[in-house]
Amino acid sequence: METPEQRIKIAVQKTGRLTDHSIDLLERCGLKLTRSKDQLILYGENMPIDLLLVRDDDIPGLVSEDVCDLGIVGLNIVEEKRLGLESEGRPALFRQIYELDFGHCRLSLAGPDGHQYEGPESLENTKIATSYVHLLRNYLKTIGVSAESVYFSGAVEIAPKLGRADYICDLVSTGGTLAANGLEEVEVLLDSEAVVIQTQAPLGDQKQALVDKILQRLDGVLQVRESKYIMLHAPRAALSEIRDLLPGSEAPTVMPLDGSDDKVAIHAVCRENVFWETLENLKAAGASSLLVLPVEKMLA
Ligand code: PRP
Ligand code: ZN
Repeated sequence: METPEQRIKIAVQKTGRLTDHSIDLLERCGLKLTRSKDQLILYGENMPIDLLLVRDDDIPGLVSEDVCDLGIVGLNIVEEKRLGLESEGRPALFRQIYELDFGHCRLSLAGPDGHQYEGPESLENTKIATSYVHLLRNYLKTIGVSAESVYFSGAVEIAPKLGRADYICDLVSTGGTLAANGLEEVEVLLDSEAVVIQTQAPLGDQKQALVDKILQRLDGVLQVRESKYIMLHAPRAALSEIRDLLPGSEAPTVMPLDGSDDKVAIHAVCRENVFWETLENLKAAGASSLLVLPVEKMLA
C-alpha cells in the first residue's frame, strides 16, 4: 500500500494569476485531479501526486520546511524569500529546478506620471513603497543609492497618492495597474516567470523518479505549445532550400510521390511556430500542397 509519505505534494497558488495555468500544465502531463470538499487539496487519481492550494507567498516556506516536495511559484517570490533568508544568515532550503515559461511579469520601480526621473540617482533619499523589501534593498545596494523602503503588504500603487512614498516597487504584467494609478515605470529590477522549486531534503528514489518523469513530460508539454507538423510537396531540386526554410526542424522525412520522379513529399516537426510568411517563402521556393497541423504530444 502507498503511504501518504510516498505521495508527492505540490504547492500551487490558491487564487491568482498562476493558479489555472499551473493546474492545466500538470493535467497536460497526464495527472487526473479531484477536488477535496474543502477545496484546499486536489488529489491525484492516477498518480501519487496531490496539489495543495496555498497563498503564493507561502510556497517557498512550505517547500523549504518540507511540507511540500515541490512548488510552482513566481521567481519574484522565490528570490524575495531567498534574499530574506540570506539576510537572516539562513540558507534557502529549496532549489529552483525548472522554468515554466508562463506568468511572465517584472518587478519594476515606478513614479507618478510626469515626475522628473534622470536615472537611478533620482532615487537618492526618496521613499519607495513595496512588498519586495529584500529585492528592493538588494537593488539599491547594487546601484549604490540610499533610499528608504516602506513596506506595504498590498495596494502598493496607492502609496504615492497617500503621500507615503515617492516611488513604488511592484510587479508589472500588462501595465494596467500602473496606468490606472497614474504611475510610470522607470526601472526593471527583475524579470519573472513561473518556476518549479523543490525541497533540498532528499525525496527517496521512488518519489524522485516520479518528479523526473513529470519534468520530462513538462518538457514535452512546453515544446508542443509552439510545435507544428508541416507537410508539403516540393521539387527534388528545391529540397535543400526548403529544408533551410523550415523553422526549428531537425531532419525532415522525405518521401517519393507516387507517379512523379521529380517531386517529393516532405514531412517535418517544426519546434517553432509556423507563420504565414514562412509558408509564403516555402511556396516561393517551389513548395505546394502545404499543410500545417498542431502537435498533440511529444516525447524526445
Ligand atoms: C500584481 C501587482 C499589481 C498587478 C500588476 O499583483 O501587485 O497589482 O499585479 O499587474 P498589471 O500590470 O497586469 O496591472 P498580483 O495580481 O500578483 O497580486 P498579489 O500582489 O496580491 O499577489
Ligand atoms: Zn501575492
